[in-house]
Amino acid sequence: MNRKVLITGASRGIGRATALHLANEGYALLLHASREASLQPLIASLPAGTRYEVLTADFSEEDALKQFTGTLKKANKDLYGIVSNAGIALDKALVFQPQADIDNMIRVNLMAPILLAKAAMKIFPRNGEGVFLGIGSCVGEMGNAFQSVYAATKAANVALIKSLAQEVGQLHGSQTIRFLTLSPGFIQTDMVESLSEEIQADFLSKIPSRRAGTPAEVAQTIAFLLRDEAAYINGSEIKINGGLA
Ligand SMILES: NC(=O)c1ccc[n+]([C@@H]2O[C@H](COP(=O)([O-])OP(=O)(O)OC[C@H]3O[C@@H](n4cnc5c(N)ncnc54)[C@H](OP(=O)(O)O)[C@@H]3O)[C@@H](O)[C@H]2O)c1
Repeated sequence: MNRKVLITGASRGIGRATALHLANEGYALLLHASREASLQPLIASLPAGTRYEVLTADFSEEDALKQFTGTLKKANKDLYGIVSNAGIALDKALVFQPQADIDNMIRVNLMAPILLAKAAMKIFPRNGEGVFLGIGSCVGEMGNAFQSVYAATKAANVALIKSLAQEVGQLHGSQTIRFLTLSPGFIQTDMVESLSEEIQADFLSKIPSRRAGTPAEVAQTIAFLLRDEAAYINGSEIKINGGLA
């Protein structure tokens, strides 16, 4: 396998499970997290022989994000895939939400995917192929009290991806460059474990499958969407949520 995939937010949760799954399928990995130290446990568990590089940046810092995407365009011209997974949810009633939290969610969950997608629009056409996978959320469609900004950033990712799938078709007429959103429901990671027991129980009661999803289940779906077999899935929002709607 000669394909290299960037996974942002690879240190924990869905990103970590995706990195391990893709490593087992033989992809070369470009691993991102906010700090190098966050990635050490993942690196220690990668299968022997995994080809990987590390590129860190705190996406809540504008300069760090620009430097990251700059390096991507210069030093990673061979990228096949980008899993734009890093995200933060800072839950609060909007009326009490500090401006800094709002700014951070917009930078990490929306500005970072926009600039990563911009880098993809340079890299993929030169290579004649590529898959950009944005990560949305069920709350982008459903809305959720105390997650208004988070939900807004996730809904915006879906619009970004749909638009870019159309744009790449018009600019490059390409059948081998795809932009997709994967929108998880309630997945057992640090992000949901930080929610109160009451909110977790409320979510679980609304899921027809009556359980949280696992990061490994999301990773398997991501791996499928990256494959050539998924070539006709483009511009879409794929949902993995146990029926939560
Ligand atoms: N879990 C769910 O139920 C669920 C549902 C819907 C959507 N999602 C989405 O799925 C994605 C992954 O979620 P998760 O539950 O796996 O999250 P998680 O376990 O909390 O992991 C978040 C990842 O994002 C990185 N990250 C956080 N802040 C960052 C920053 N300022 N700069 C750069 N990287 C940063 C973290 O890196 P560090 O370790 O270095 O902090 C970590 O690797 C997110 O986009 C989330 O919105 C999750």
